[in-house]
Amino acid sequence: ARVGILLSGRGSNMQALVAASREADSRYEVVLVASDKPEAPGLAWAAKHGIATFTASPKGRPKAEYEAQIDAALRDAGVEVVALAGYMRLLSPSFVQRWAGRILNIHPSLLPKYKGLDTHARAIAAGDAVAGASVHLVTEALDDGPVIAQAEVPVKPGDTPDTLAARVLTAEHRLYPQALDRFLSR
Ligand code: GRF
Repeated sequence: ARVGILLSGRGSNMQALVAASREADSRYEVVLVASDKPEAPGLAWAAKHGIATFTASPKGRPKAEYEAQIDAALRDAGVEVVALAGYMRLLSPSFVQRWAGRILNIHPSLLPKYKGLDTHARAIAAGDAVAGASVHLVTEALDDGPVIAQAEVPVKPGDTPDTLAARVLTAEHRLYPQALDRFLSR
């Protein structure tokens, strides 16, 4: 399948998806990496690795206009499935509806726990023994669609949000490619 990735930052999950897509038995290829942030390091990495990139800045214009450009870029690239990978903006209902059932997101918590930001600090503050990440289908509400895969990691004594984030992120890099592969085999 032809996959388009949306990101806003570093792009380590995008890199994990690209690496997996270049394995011989992969069910997908990453045909476009698009961002709301021209300076996102993930965009530069994608370009350097031969992947088409697209930026549409939302600054100073209506969300519908900005999202229409992203949507057009995805369609022009023949994208069939969209993978959000650290895309830090809520997509509008009309965008989500146009791609319904074909957008995935990875979120750094064991959903339904800790939707939104600061997931690791919240897991530590709650005294959780286990943390993790979830891959879910995107619906109109933030971090709310059906979960299709999860990975757990321990919360260790002395963990800070940063040390826990690093452990969860390593798990994310295994989880997202596997979850996408399984999603595409359905
Ligand atoms: C990841 O923790 C992901 O779960 C969350 O945003 C972070 C993105 O990191 N949605 P990266 O840009 O993939 O490195």
